[in-house]
Amino acid sequence: MSGNGKGSVGTAGGLRSRAWFDNAANPDMTALYLERYLNYGLSIEELQSNRPVIGIAQTGSDLAPCNRHHVVLAQRVKDGIREAGGIPLEFPIHPIQETGKRPTAGLDRNLAYLSLVEVLYGYPIDGVVLTIGCDKTTPASLMAAATVDIPAIALSVGPMLNGWHKGERTGSGTIVWKAREMLAAGEIDYKGFIALVASSAPSTGFCNTMGTATTMNSLAEALGMSLPGSAAIPAPHRDRQECAWETGRRAVEMVRADRKPSDILTREAFLNAIRINSAIGGSTNAPIHLNAIARHMGVELTLADWEQHGGDIPLMVNLQPAGEYLGEDFFRAGGVPAVAGELLRNGLLNADALTVNGSTIGENCADAEIADRDVIRPYAAPLRENAGLMVLKGNLFDAAVMKVSVISDEFRDRFLTDPDDPMAFEAGVVVFDGPEDYHARIDDPALGIDERTILVMRGAGPNGYPGGAEVVNMRPPAALIRAGISNLPCMGDGRQSGTSGSPSILNAAPEADAGGGLALLRTGDRVRIDLLRRRADALVDADEWERRREKFVADGGYASPPSQTPWQELAREHTGQFDTGAVLEPAVKYQKIASSFGVPRDSH
Ligand code: FES
Ligand code: MG
Repeated sequence: MSGNGKGSVGTAGGLRSRAWFDNAANPDMTALYLERYLNYGLSIEELQSNRPVIGIAQTGSDLAPCNRHHVVLAQRVKDGIREAGGIPLEFPIHPIQETGKRPTAGLDRNLAYLSLVEVLYGYPIDGVVLTIGCDKTTPASLMAAATVDIPAIALSVGPMLNGWHKGERTGSGTIVWKAREMLAAGEIDYKGFIALVASSAPSTGFCNTMGTATTMNSLAEALGMSLPGSAAIPAPHRDRQECAWETGRRAVEMVRADRKPSDILTREAFLNAIRINSAIGGSTNAPIHLNAIARHMGVELTLADWEQHGGDIPLMVNLQPAGEYLGEDFFRAGGVPAVAGELLRNGLLNADALTVNGSTIGENCADAEIADRDVIRPYAAPLRENAGLMVLKGNLFDAAVMKVSVISDEFRDRFLTDPDDPMAFEAGVVVFDGPEDYHARIDDPALGIDERTILVMRGAGPNGYPGGAEVVNMRPPAALIRAGISNLPCMGDGRQSGTSGSPSILNAAPEADAGGGLALLRTGDRVRIDLLRRRADALVDADEWERRREKFVADGGYASPPSQTPWQELAREHTGQFDTGAVLEPAVKYQKIASSFGVPRDSH
């Protein structure tokens, strides 16, 4: 055995940490590797005792409040690892905080991924506990675990407690979009605006709505990468501490069983997650992130799978923004296992998909019952039918997604009015180039925005923004809100917050910056949206469209702002579009690197 970097597997089927710490495995280097781990109190005996070394990839910090409780939970994870005979080594990963990071946390997912791959591969780590929570922390961690493919288990930090204001539930994000409308309509002042928004964040934890955080933590569980029932436990609950301890114990067991992400993240597991995403009313960010994880795992998964496998699943979970409840209620009603149980009993999940605890999702969830049938509706009596994502295409883009579960009756009454074609409508567009342009002009009466206008946002994709920002959800002009129109359909090459309930066409690929059709669209054009035929087209004649294309190219393409940091430049050079997961394209060819390459060569 040796860690000479010549492609050898340094552990001959044993623990990869032995290539650092075992005299027999690496006589020249062991002393040098050992001594620095001894300097804070680990003993030679324990490091050479063939115990699994379990990394705890810490995403919580003062900069990342959604995940900050992981700093506390890590103590219980360590207790569990010790209890099972492992050695815990906690380390930080690049902070990702959805609301605080400018220009967008979307830019940081791939950066955190990249650095976590390097850490998991380059240090004496046999298995890892991934501490997940805030939106991008879940996909970044799972993408890295997929690439390295060492035993990995995710621990959710859990949602915040429910927010309340004047006797009403106030949900993360969802209340922000609502409060913005109230402020614009003059119903509250700025102090009231802040108080209303702050009421939605009453404790440690992640967003308590069915936004991207609850979605991705639920899907990590649906994929089999975290313990059954773990995603929905509110962060401050005692069960969350117990779950942390159990997760630590399981991490050690997974190393002993050599149970790796590649054993769990199969195509069947992804299809299960797609179906559960529809049933929970998951965020439109989910396809970007799941497709990214699948690509790094080497599993075939496309946007077409989302429609084909998730399209006809009903919305069962009554959480904001599509419904009325919040995270505490989802936990009380049974969380992900209750949803999975209903789908399993209706033959809609692959029961044989393996999970981190060594049992299948069928074994874990088949008997799970719904404890509150208003919060989690039974499969036979859902909130709405066919709640999956729709994938649209046309001359404006090759692919964009629309979340069907948030299409309101009001929207149907206002737009889907043609009795001969009740799933199609035509409308004029007003086009904004980035959120600054939108904020500066939205209340300008000269734009002529009325209750049948589509608001278009471009320059907000992975390369244009850069990072792909959640700026496509746009409130209507204040005058329209005062007249009772609280939302207009939006369309764009950026993302929309998972906490927003606007009926929107999102994640358009290719984006304007990459020469997609949105770049050629102009205010005043009419667009036809046909939900039945899955089309979105500018009603501009072909010659005129071609003339615009020629001018666009002659003018040097879309004018995105210049990069401001080295990473922005690198990300722009290497990141793909949303439909294929917006991953670092050169990273995809590195698959299962722990088994493909063994341990890296020695450091000295
Ligand atoms: Fe971090 Fe929602 S902003 S979880
Ligand atoms: Mg978000």
